[in-house]
Amino acid sequence: ETAYVFAAIAGYLLGSIPFGLLLARAAGLGDVRKIGSGNIGATNVLRTGNKGVAAATLLLDLAKGLGAVLLAKALWPGTEGVAAVAAVLGHCFPVWLGFKGGKGVATNAGVCFGLAWPIGLAYALVWIGMLAVLRVSSLAGMTAVVAAAIVAAVLGYGEYAVPLAVIAVIVIWLHRENIGRIRRGEEPRVGRAR
Ligand code: G3P
Repeated sequence: ETAYVFAAIAGYLLGSIPFGLLLARAAGLGDVRKIGSGNIGATNVLRTGNKGVAAATLLLDLAKGLGAVLLAKALWPGTEGVAAVAAVLGHCFPVWLGFKGGKGVATNAGVCFGLAWPIGLAYALVWIGMLAVLRVSSLAGMTAVVAAAIVAAVLGYGEYAVPLAVIAVIVIWLHRENIGRIRRGEEPRVGRAR
């Protein structure tokens, strides 16, 4: 079906916009790929010390995930699960950056809100709650990503549980270095120097 192809391409292209890299560069903060974890997401932008640019990165990475899913719902109903996976793939593997992008946590937040608001709400609550308690961005993000897939299944959004589970596998795989640091007790905490 061509609708799925359109949803996949549009989702990928939206997801592939590397807001963290672009905003940090525009703000004169340099190339975020050369600092901290080397990631282009909001957590690593925050390591430049600029909270505003980090917040803008978070919101815009979220917005592109939301936009990809809402666009698919509006133009090609029934393809939003494909658009969801494509948007996260675009963020994580952007053609513009040699397929080396982010880890998908913020983009997936927007995806979840676009698929169904209860899934988005669950995602936000788990993410923010875990971050408040643990102060480890990667672990909070991974927990939310897994929770979203489970919540989708439990709340009866079976058709979204599969794409969200696929996204969870991708996101956790991309966090393998973070997982290593967490296990060694070396993962930096948000809001602290180290
Ligand atoms: O969303 C990315 C976050 O989960 C981890 O980022 O820079 O700590 O690897 P970072």
